[in-house]
Amino acid sequence: MRIRCEPSGREVEVEPGESVYAALRRVGVPIASTCEADGICGRCAIQVLHGALEPPSELETSTRLKQVVEGRLACLVEPREDLTVTTSYW
Ligand code: FES
Repeated sequence: MRIRCEPSGREVEVEPGESVYAALRRVGVPIASTCEADGICGRCAIQVLHGALEPPSELETSTRLKQVVEGRLACLVEPREDLTVTTSYW
């Protein structure tokens, strides 16, 4: 599966079992974090423009509510199909 990052159009191959956050970090795409992917800071939020992700876990839902975050937490989700995503700082 691949992740396309907009607006740059850069594409990243996702390895089996890899989160969106891990895939982006592995190839040097900047993705914010202050918890190093523990799922508690909410900084890694992405907006999914195309494609499907698994439903949010209890931790993701809780962190999004506590941190008042819109979008999905890249460290807590794995793609189910090719994705197109963006953030407010790309
Ligand atoms: S990196 Fe902190 S919630 Fe994802």
